[in-house]
Amino acid sequence: MPATPDESPTTEDATRRRVSMTAGGPILIEGPIRLTAADGREICCDRFLVAICTCHRSGIYPLCDTSHRRRRRVDPDS
Ligand code: FES
Repeated sequence: MPATPDESPTTEDATRRRVSMTAGGPILIEGPIRLTAADGREICCDRFLVAICTCHRSGIYPLCDTSHRRRRRVDPDS
């Protein structure tokens, strides 16, 4: 049965890997991880926290390079 947000973690839950979604940014996963990209590449990350790009602007996609922070210029004439 899936846990609801109001439930306290059990001992079993303490061993689960945490995945966090951020507003307008990456999905954060506690590492290390082995990621299979959509094109089949296997990417091993040893970081304690791995950021997966959700905006598709990253130069190192599928990993986040913080490109999501850059705002697009707004043309005042349009
Ligand atoms: S979410 Fe960070 S670059 Fe895409």
